[in-house]
Amino acid sequence: MDNPADRARDAALRFQSELADERTPFVFDEWYVATFADEVTRTPLARTLLGIPLVLLRRTDGGIAVLEDRCPHRSMPLSLGSLEGDTLVCGYHGARFGCDGVCAGVPSQAMIPPGARVRAFAAEQHGPLVWVWMGLSAPTQPPPHPAWIDDEAGWAASRQRLHMHASYVRLHENLLDLTHLSFLHAKTFGTPDYASAPYDSSVDAERGHFALTRSVVPTRLPPIWARPTGLEGRDAARIASSTFISPALHEVHVRFHACDRPAEEQPSRAIRTAHIVTPESATSTHYFIHHGRNFALEDGEITAFMHQQLLAAFQEDIDGLEAIERNLANYPSGTAAEVSFRADGPSLAMRRWLKQRALAGRT
Ligand code: FES
Ligand SMILES: [Fe+2]
Repeated sequence: MDNPADRARDAALRFQSELADERTPFVFDEWYVATFADEVTRTPLARTLLGIPLVLLRRTDGGIAVLEDRCPHRSMPLSLGSLEGDTLVCGYHGARFGCDGVCAGVPSQAMIPPGARVRAFAAEQHGPLVWVWMGLSAPTQPPPHPAWIDDEAGWAASRQRLHMHASYVRLHENLLDLTHLSFLHAKTFGTPDYASAPYDSSVDAERGHFALTRSVVPTRLPPIWARPTGLEGRDAARIASSTFISPALHEVHVRFHACDRPAEEQPSRAIRTAHIVTPESATSTHYFIHHGRNFALEDGEITAFMHQQLLAAFQEDIDGLEAIERNLANYPSGTAAEVSFRADGPSLAMRRWLKQRALAGRT
């Protein structure tokens, strides 16, 4: 019974028990993106975040209100009701709630029952994003909204809302792991030399900072980058950094230049992608993409080409992570032991930090 294979498996499972996975509680004391701002209109919008159903409303003053999407009378989703001014009217028996969640009236009686209120969440719109604070206590910091997203003159942008039937922890791990590009993305933005290119990692578990920079030099760029940068058929440098900003956000920055001249003598060619990660449930995730570039700013054709190519690549991540989630569902919870590679260092540190944050929030 007690053989080396069993001992190795037990050790792997003990190690894994300290890392976040789909069984780990959510980190509530953080800002998360609920939606793109233009999705919030005068028609109530339902969206589940961190296992809690929410309804998002556009107030008459243009602001955004976010309430729990459950009428305290008989649990009808309030998103099925209607807005009258700044009052949300339940579609079942007509109870009325203000944007602060307090019940303002019950049509069938004069008295408002004590405790008739729904939870209201702090929400802030910044540029194209709507951030929501899901913590029990008041927000302790502003949303980690990247300033470049609001710099429309400097960064030509496109964005997309995606959805994935897999844990948000897996998506963060995928984003901190650049070695999969040569394989999972072989048909899109991966090149064979990517997986073994040198990298630097930066881990500060005290501050929750986890980052990776990979330099693929010289390389031949895949079409998604070669065409827009004008570096087709030339030796080029591709320098990518991947940074975990918070449980809700990950940024990837990439710089390109031709290898035949010093980088500083060339026009800047940079792309940035905000990977916005919002858990929906333990095994499903809202995945928002905001992508920008600082070159060919006026070229709508390039925007459309890059957007279409990027979406194909991100769908490869989604398909892969969903396949992993389905595969793991075949095993009793917590029994699938993992081995790790050297390049997994930053993502292992991130998962350990995430688990500590999640458990600290429960005490
Ligand atoms: S369920 Fe909302 S008023 Fe009855
Ligand atoms: Fe990927």
